[in-house]
Amino acid sequence: MEASAAGKSCSCRAIEFLESSIGKKIMVALAGLLLCGFLITHLAGNLFLFVGGPAFNRYAEFLESNPLLPLAEGGLVVLFLVHIALSTRARLANMAARPVGYEVYSTKGARTPGSRTMAITGSLVLLFIVVHVATIKYQIGGAKGPDLFAHVTGWFKNPLYAGFYVLALIGVGLHLSHGVQSSFQTLGLNHPRYTPLIKKLGLAFAALIALAFASMPIYFGFFYSGSAK
Ligand code: HEM
Repeated sequence: MEASAAGKSCSCRAIEFLESSIGKKIMVALAGLLLCGFLITHLAGNLFLFVGGPAFNRYAEFLESNPLLPLAEGGLVVLFLVHIALSTRARLANMAARPVGYEVYSTKGARTPGSRTMAITGSLVLLFIVVHVATIKYQIGGAKGPDLFAHVTGWFKNPLYAGFYVLALIGVGLHLSHGVQSSFQTLGLNHPRYTPLIKKLGLAFAALIALAFASMPIYFGFFYSGSAK
């Protein structure tokens, strides 16, 4: 009886936490930082494209044959849903409370291009992910032993597709340029001594991720003339 009462009050507290504006911000920040971890590993894997077809295809086979892949994919979907749903709810609640001049992630100090465009760049990144994952599932879903290198480098031969990737990656960079440092502030890492460093590191991380990912559609779309296989 006592245990179930304790369990109930525990789940009530969790719901209260998620309903509070700080609770939502903390969950958005945590999910955002974990998604940055995904971006780092995804970038590291995709850099095999520059090593060559056999190396990239071996990496893809390693991913596909990993029994933990479904678990990682499920975790990724949960992180995206939490990040998108809670940030949208927080934004809508704030707009209702303060319809004019609202900014979700407003921080002390000057507004930046990144902070001003969080909703637009977030929507662009979401559109990019839907197109990106749909292309992958449609092209390689079900196919046995696909030559993923040929597929990926083939996408970028279409200048519209490569251009869309570059545009989306500018969006990723802008989103991260504000999102990373804002997440650290939300999690309480806010100190006159360290905040300027965190801001600089956040900007450097955003630029590195955007430029490194964008180098792929740019190189394979406009400079690579080798056979796709
Ligand atoms: C422009 C360079 C990029 C290339 C060449 C690329 C390539 C790929 C490939 C080959 C896959 C399927 C195999 C795998 O899971 O690694 C994949 C999956 C995926 N990519 Fe990318 N990607 C790029 C950028 C991005 C970016 C910037 C994001 C996020 C903002 C992203 C999000 C995803 C997601 C969510 C999946 C599905 C993961 C899964 O279900 O296993 N990708 N990408």
